[in-house]
Parts: sequence; structure tokens; C-alpha cells
Amino acid sequence: MSPPPDRSASPGANPGDLERLERATRELDPPFAVVDLGAFGDNGHDLVRRASGTPLRLASKSVRCRALQQRVLSSEGWRGTLAFTLPEALWLASCGFEDLVVAYPTVDRGALRELASRETSAITIMIDCVEQLDFVDAAVGRRPTPLRVCLDIDAGWWPMAGRVRIGAKRSPVRSPSQAASLATEVVQREGWRLAGLMAYEAQIAGVGDAPPGRPVRGLALRAVQRLSATELAERRAEIVESVRAVAPLEFVNGGGTGSIETTSREESVTEVTAGSGLYGPTLFDAYRGFRPRPAAMFALPVVRKPRSGVATVLGGGYLASGPGDGARLPTPHLPSGLRLDRQEGAGEVQTPVLGRAADALRVGDRVYFRHAKAGEMCERFDRLYLVDRDRVVEEVPTYRGEGRCFL
Ligand SMILES: Cc1ncc(COP(=O)(O)O)c(C=O)c1O
Repeated sequence: MSPPPDRSASPGANPGDLERLERATRELDPPFAVVDLGAFGDNGHDLVRRASGTPLRLASKSVRCRALQQRVLSSEGWRGTLAFTLPEALWLASCGFEDLVVAYPTVDRGALRELASRETSAITIMIDCVEQLDFVDAAVGRRPTPLRVCLDIDAGWWPMAGRVRIGAKRSPVRSPSQAASLATEVVQREGWRLAGLMAYEAQIAGVGDAPPGRPVRGLALRAVQRLSATELAERRAEIVESVRAVAPLEFVNGGGTGSIETTSREESVTEVTAGSGLYGPTLFDAYRGFRPRPAAMFALPVVRKPRSGVATVLGGGYLASGPGDGARLPTPHLPSGLRLDRQEGAGEVQTPVLGRAADALRVGDRVYFRHAKAGEMCERFDRLYLVDRDRVVEEVPTYRGEGRCFL
């Protein structure tokens, strides 16, 4: 793994925030996780603003806290959930969530049988090949109501006649004719109903176009993203048209936090997904066009002072998924002026933080960190303390706190 980035402070670190957080949480014993409701609310409004009237679907994996998901979904501009597993979607539906699309194909036979046994369902499952349809048919047999299905389309950019392939390795369906033939297979089968189409452009939505300290890479990324967005807008429109010639579509989904403007501008897209932008994790510091406020943080206690310029906190090794590079590490956020140690990174049981600010830390003080990604932080904490200005106003369970572990 490459060493952690040598940042002396997390962007957006504001000493006023530290005082406020400290006042709010002084009775708590770290480790604990907080969500700053002011920042969370501002981030939500900014996502809605960026969507310019296109409804947003909430990526639940990027929140993983039912109470916060409900809060977002009851606000203007949001409609429906993009769930990450079928068991999660079944659970959310049993809690009253409506309009759930499972973003990834499922081969969970028990969950499929439960879905198929329902008379009505607010859940749409994802497929991108006939083999998945066969699998589900074999697992569930005849059902009272057709299963709602969404077609996942590859949104990658393939320049040089396909010799270069940029984007996530997801669906094998890429062309209008491939999409139309899969749609035809769905509508011709008993027990299925085509509900929607999704194409997620990870190379735009999830890759910051201004990586810190790498201006040349930033230039290249922006060029790739511009060309990719142009190619995708045209191809997505053709795909939607060819699928609509087979059967009506209730929704066409695309995008993510990093691509809201470009995706929502496409006429063929009826909704855009977003989630990460609510918590504002560090991977989303690297975009030029928007800057979420850091809303989700975790506090760890200083437990020792090995030498001058170093304070060591308990725990901290909460790495984000993805390529194993330094950007996946958590970042010391407050007090500002702290950085991780290049040798030790963020440790399983302890994490040294370095810098002049470390000298001012005493045993028992807290260091607030930001996670690199959004919802994964919630797999480490069973509750979130919701902070309004300088008060904890509510304590809400994460998925983990509700005993729910989906991935
Ligand atoms: C299918 C899909 N849509 C959208 C997103 C974007 O979510 P977020 O806004 O949390 O980055 C993701 C993230 O991985 C995804 O897998």
C-alpha cells in the first residue's frame, strides 16, 4: 500500500467546529461517531440544488442509518432508495420504506423467495443477463405477482475502438440492441415486469476531478470525464429509446454524488442517485465543482504521548473499500494540523497522529477523524450522535446498531 497522503489538515477543518463538537459531546466517552446536522442538511440541499429539479434517489449504502435515511427521504427533492442488497431492501420495506431498487444483482435464494411470496412489492431487483433471470426463476418458481426488474447498463467509456476501457466492470450490456434484446427476454417471460433501467457512470460520479497535489492527473481526468459524459449521454438516450420500444419504463437512473450536474442534464434520465455527498467523506474533497461540508466524523481518545510531536489515539484503522491506496485511510480532521504516520497509517488498535498540534493534546483529549468513504464508517459504530450546533439532539442506531449487517 502506498503511504498516506502528507496532509497537515483535513480540508474544511474549522477550529470553531472543534469547540462546538467538544461542547456537544463532553459527556461521551470515545470512540463515538457524530453527524453534524447543520452540515448534513446543507449537503442535502446542495445535492438537490445540483440536480436542478431531477429527483434524487438515496444510495442507502452511503448512509447506513435508517433514521437519517428517513430524514432525507422526507425532504423535498428525494424519492426512493437505491438499496445495496435484497435482504436490506426487504428489511427497509418492512420498516415502511417505499420504492426500493436493489442496485446489484442478487443470488440470495431465501431473500428472493421472500420477495416472490409477497402480493405487492415496492422492490425492484437488478439484472444484466439471462443467466440471472434463469437463476431467479429456478430459485422461486411461480409467484403471485411478477417480480419488478431493472436492467443495469454499462456506462463505461471505451475509446480507441474498445482497446481502452474506462469505468467499473459491471454490466455486459452496452449497446441499444443488447439492451433491447434483454428487455425482450424479460417481457416474454412469465413472472417478470420490466420497471426501469440504470447506468452508473462510476468513472465520473466516483472519481474526484481535482486530486490533491496531482494537477496533471486532474487535467487528464477532466478531459476523460468530459468525453465520457458526452459519449454516455448519446448512448444512454439511444438505449432508453430502444428499450422503450419493447416496454414502458417507469424510471431511468444514473449518476452519483460526483456527476449530478451532467447526469441530471440528460433528457433520458428521470432520476439521479446520491448518498455520499450527505456525509461529505474525504474522497469527495477532490472535486472542483462542489465541496460537501464534513458532516460525519468519529472521535477517538488520546491514550498516550510517545514523544514530542506525537499523540496516540485508540483504534482508528477504519479503512475504506477500493484500491488499497493511501486515499482510503481515515484523515485526522480536528484539531487541525494533525496527520497520520507514514509507517503506521491507521492501526487496528492504535493510531499515532503527528504534527505540532499533537503537542497540545493531552491524555483523554479527542481527535475527530473523517472516513474516506461515506456509509462504511457506520459498520464501526452502533450509534450516531446527531449534533445540532453545540448540542447532541438525538442518538440514532446505525444498521450495525440495529443488528443488521448486509455487506
Ligand atoms: C449503482 C450506483 N449508483 C450510484 C452510486 C453513487 O452513490 P454515492 O452518491 O453515494 O457516491 C453508486 C456508488 O457506488 C452506485 O453503485
